[in-house]
Amino acid sequence: MIPPRAVLQRATDPAWLALALAHFGEVLIDHAHCEKKAAAHALSLLSSYPEVPGLPRAMARLAREESGHLAQVLLLLDKRGLTLGRDPGDPYAQGLHKLLRNPRPQRLLDLLLISALIEERSRERLQLLADHLDDPELRSFYARLADSEAGHGELFVRLAKRLDRDHAQERLEQLARAEGELIARLPIRAAMH
Ligand SMILES: [Fe+2]
Ligand SMILES: [Fe+2]
Repeated sequence: MIPPRAVLQRATDPAWLALALAHFGEVLIDHAHCEKKAAAHALSLLSSYPEVPGLPRAMARLAREESGHLAQVLLLLDKRGLTLGRDPGDPYAQGLHKLLRNPRPQRLLDLLLISALIEERSRERLQLLADHLDDPELRSFYARLADSEAGHGELFVRLAKRLDRDHAQERLEQLARAEGELIARLPIRAAMH
């Protein structure tokens, strides 16, 4: 069976890749913040929805994996003499957050599906970096990370479908359209999103 995936409605603008390659240090710092937020988000879902079957263990494993990514990116920062600094915030994640509905079951469905879309957008961009960076070590590092984020995207779609088999797909398509509009509207930055 083909694993369920969130399908992006709009490909990343090629101008993003040019900017990211030209300011790779900035992208790396932002990437570390993204991995940190991914780990924290997994633990926050675990702590907000402990009663949902399968969710706590899946989120515990995810948090461990994202923390592993964070540690690896932090090592790359150290090697380049770069400092993490404070997180300036991410207009992409903030824009997606506004799409959340409030009643508890719908909110969880939306959180899972938005998480799937963020993972999928990250996968797309990590793969672009894997395909276009010069350093062979970085290329294979980003290719491995892209595969891992693809798995996370599938995990979130699976959890969403288990939660609400009847509505998950339709809501995923709505949110994917909104994500595509958001990514087209936001200014391009030397950052993961
Ligand atoms: Fe990650
Ligand atoms: Fe991830």
